[in-house]
Amino acid sequence: MQISSLKLLNFRNYETLELKFSPKVNIIYGKNGMGKTNIIEAIYMLGLTKTFRSNNDNIVIKRGKNIAKIEGTIKNTILNNYKIIINNAGKRIKVDNNKIAKISDYITRVNIILFNPDDLKMIKDTPSIRRKMLNIEISGINNEYLLLLTNYNKVLKQRNAYLKALNKKKSYDDAFLKILTEQLVELGLKIMWIRTEFINNINSYISDIYYEITHKGTLKVVYKSEFINKSKESILKMFEKNISREIFLGKTIFGIQHDDLEFKIDSEIVKEFSSVGEQKNSIISFKLAEIKNIENKLHKKPILILDDLFSELDEEKINNILALIDTDLQTFITTTEIAYVDEKLLKNAKKFYVKDGKVEEE
Ligand SMILES: Nc1ncnc2c1ncn2[C@@H]1O[C@H](COP(=O)(O)OP(=O)(O)OP(=O)(O)O)[C@@H](O)[C@H]1O
Ligand SMILES: [Mg+2]
Repeated sequence: MQISSLKLLNFRNYETLELKFSPKVNIIYGKNGMGKTNIIEAIYMLGLTKTFRSNNDNIVIKRGKNIAKIEGTIKNTILNNYKIIINNAGKRIKVDNNKIAKISDYITRVNIILFNPDDLKMIKDTPSIRRKMLNIEISGINNEYLLLLTNYNKVLKQRNAYLKALNKKKSYDDAFLKILTEQLVELGLKIMWIRTEFINNINSYISDIYYEITHKGTLKVVYKSEFINKSKESILKMFEKNISREIFLGKTIFGIQHDDLEFKIDSEIVKEFSSVGEQKNSIISFKLAEIKNIENKLHKKPILILDDLFSELDEEKINNILALIDTDLQTFITTTEIAYVDEKLLKNAKKFYVKDGKVEEE
């Protein structure tokens, strides 16, 4: 899969921009704050409809303007024109000028694997950040997942509201609560199975990749869920036993809304034990494992974006990472220092010099 051209209007610090990319390596370089990440953010947004930098997509509209456009030609099995128009009222998404209503189908069309320094949050931050990241990654490869998740959250909200109401009433309609609990458990189990399969697939690649980068330690990802290795019946029993506590709290106490991931190198927990460089290598290994998973499951090659990969990593690790990247993969690399980029890679790459919202293609 490749993006061959990108056209921007009023996107971040670009008023207008038109670029043609190489199907292989593209290097975007320039000083801090010039607009390197903005370019790859536009590519990411074209594939996933959302920015990775904010919960609010309007933020990408150039200050002082009221509409932004991203347009690109992307080759999947065939060549398509993708367009996203963002204004304060929302977003319009088009493929070959046809309006797209179902986001879950759109986001599985274009597979983008992004590494961004903010991804370190995936290790350091709270479980909710890790769940969010897990949801984004799985939604990109499974078009049923987003709907399951939306339905689960609806039932969870409804169940919580019902429990709160019961707390005040001190009596309850057993049948209705039973229906809600069953729905919650059924949807939750489906989500747990998809998450389990995804993490299992990642684990079948990640330790080798991590070892090739660092030559030290075995990395794995542990998926934690209250539903894991449990049958529907045993989970329903667990709910039954705790019903008075749930009514007292006015809240559902079990479910996949508490799921978490833990990165481990040998038996040590990366979050508590590892250096910043080791954390970064763990995340990179995760992303490269995702590429293998997409190639294996979907028989597609995703677009790889490495934003500011080089900071905080030593030269040896950088070279080991770059050596792992398949030369057939369209790759975007942003950097402040083009000197960080390996000479062989540089020779075959298309280079873009970014200065204050203007780009020179070389
Ligand atoms: N909505 C917006 N309108 C106009 N300018 C914006 C908008 N959002 C961000 N910017 C500007 O874009 C610039 C940041 O660009 P970007 O993050 O792409 O920089 P960068 O080249 O990746 O820098 P670094 O090397 O520090 O990562 C900032 O100067 C910021 O003020
Ligand atoms: Mg940047």
